[in-house]
Amino acid sequence: MTTKKIIAGNWKMNPVSSKEALALYLGIKKNSSRLRQTTAVVFPPAVFLATLRDKGMSVKLDLGAQNMSAEEAGAFTGQISPLMLKNIGAKWVIIGHSEARASGETDADLNAKILGALKNGFKIILCIGEKVRDAQGKYLAVLQNQLAKALENFPAKKISQLVIAYEPVWAIGKEATGVETPDGFLQNSIVIKKTLSSIFNPKSAKAVSILYGGSVGVKNAESFLVTGQADGLLVGRESLDATSFGEILKIADKLR
Ligand code: PGA
Repeated sequence: MTTKKIIAGNWKMNPVSSKEALALYLGIKKNSSRLRQTTAVVFPPAVFLATLRDKGMSVKLDLGAQNMSAEEAGAFTGQISPLMLKNIGAKWVIIGHSEARASGETDADLNAKILGALKNGFKIILCIGEKVRDAQGKYLAVLQNQLAKALENFPAKKISQLVIAYEPVWAIGKEATGVETPDGFLQNSIVIKKTLSSIFNPKSAKAVSILYGGSVGVKNAESFLVTGQADGLLVGRESLDATSFGEILKIADKLR
């Protein structure tokens, strides 16, 4: 794949003040100013997006939302619409993160959100991943099923708006019970690409970047990008430290 690597930072429900969010954003912005071959994007809590856009928006560091409603406006208490996020400067959105799935989002919900995001011009990072890994490879059916359901009615001509993040749930966060290997990622990404080929067509499937996520950081970023041939990374905890995230950006950028 000759496209730029995508390094995405999911801040989750952190930090707790806009002052800290701005400091983190400006730190990452400084570290991303020289990037040539890498697309950098951060996903702060939505309440901070306006501040970051007004005080720090950078052409080299995109802003994204961690989730969004499928609906554009109306009686949906507590939800944030794609139009609001677009108007506030978000270009990307994460859909189907395992933490959102765990809070009850269904495949049908995710599909509706994807179609809403698509209509509003977002770049979508669709997260997929199994909760448990079995030696017989039954978990691969989970990934195939998540893709097929989330991507129903996704037009192949809009494929450039789609990115997949493969995040095995058991490898995410402080509670991770294991670590994915770069070789494991590579094998799984081949299955993901084949599935995308059958949902769309081989040419469209080739255009989709497949990211790895789950306890990825400075120590293992390069091995996922080189040995695992990942098209990018979705970073959780280490994206909350401007120095570490900057280091990951540099690792990705020097690879070509
Ligand atoms: P982690 O989170 O890097 O803290 O494991 C990754 C994610 O949930 O996207």
